[in-house]
Amino acid sequence: MRFSTLSHLACTKCPATFEATRLLDVCRQAGCGGSLFAVYDLPALSRDDIAGRDRSIWRWHEVMPARSADEIVTLGEGGTPLLRADRLGARLGMPNVWVKEEAGNPTGSFKARGLSAAVTMARALGARAIALPTAGNAGGAAAAYAAKAGLACHVFMPRDTPKVFAIECEAYGARVTLVDGLIDDCGRIVAQRKDAEGWFDVSTLKEPYRVEGKKTMGYELAEQLGWTLPDVVVYPTGGGTGLIGMWKAWDEMERMGWIGPARPRMVSVQAEGCAPIPLAFASGATVSARAEDARTYASGLRVPKAYADYLILSILRESKGDAVAVTDDEMRRGVSEMASSEGLFAAPEGGAAWIAVEKLLAAGRVDRGERVVVFDTGTGYKYVA
Ligand SMILES: Cc1ncc(COP(=O)(O)O)c(C=O)c1O
Repeated sequence: MRFSTLSHLACTKCPATFEATRLLDVCRQAGCGGSLFAVYDLPALSRDDIAGRDRSIWRWHEVMPARSADEIVTLGEGGTPLLRADRLGARLGMPNVWVKEEAGNPTGSFKARGLSAAVTMARALGARAIALPTAGNAGGAAAAYAAKAGLACHVFMPRDTPKVFAIECEAYGARVTLVDGLIDDCGRIVAQRKDAEGWFDVSTLKEPYRVEGKKTMGYELAEQLGWTLPDVVVYPTGGGTGLIGMWKAWDEMERMGWIGPARPRMVSVQAEGCAPIPLAFASGATVSARAEDARTYASGLRVPKAYADYLILSILRESKGDAVAVTDDEMRRGVSEMASSEGLFAAPEGGAAWIAVEKLLAAGRVDRGERVVVFDTGTGYKYVA
């Protein structure tokens, strides 16, 4: 069997397809610009074939894009624990709460998964330098994987991002530019300069492979739950890459005969001060309006408009899921409850996801007995200032 069964890239907005043999960003059909998805000749692979392999995102290599083991740029990302959160759940009388604990990834967040895949493919397809806008954690991960790969890395982040994020990027040898503006302002600078500078733009969902790295959370979750899926998945959403990736993973898994058609209700969690997805979800819109004057201390959630908002919103609706906004004070309480109940010092984004469970229960949108997985997407240590 081929190491990777990657076949081609397909646009998520229009019927266009593209060869996967060169560096591509988004769909180039006139006026489209849709995010591209990797499409695989799904192999006759059994779940048992995977069982004895190393616990990294690359254990799923037949459905990952690297064409050989030599191409892979890895720091040991993925294979994170799914922890039963009895004491946390007991606060709400919920016996079936689980935390997918992503803080143990290289560079302290789930961004490592996506950047391992994106940097692997960028280098394999000829990039010499990468660039990206970041809310913080993606920049650190990009810089670390670029260092490992021997690529130059240019990171653009809002000036008021917690200082540790710039410090870690520079430690990994990246060039950091602090921007007076939000992440989309940073993205515009990358887009304007990338051709002249020879940078490959690894902005989330503006290249096809970060989502491939993030989808491994969907594979892991199913494996860790004995090849079943939970009733509800609660995901703190900026660009939405993990939510989109997990949905893609379960589709692949169903087509390989690994799981049935049942899916969790997907819940997107954002901050009150930057809630484009909950607002669009409530209004029935298929795309979000830019959140002006976006504010929250959860820097990963300070994304005024996700590039692939149309995918996030369609998944929330198809799954009969939900979208919830949480205040910064509530997030702080969430962080404190996760730490004191479960020994997990979560990023504010993880705290937000936990608080969302409380809100869903109070609103009758989740039942006490349901199996709920909360994503703790990163470590709290980077936010102590
Ligand atoms: C800790 C943390 N959680 C969640 C997010 C949002 O992730 P995504 O862009 O996949 O929605 C980020 C993004 O920066 C983050 O750093």
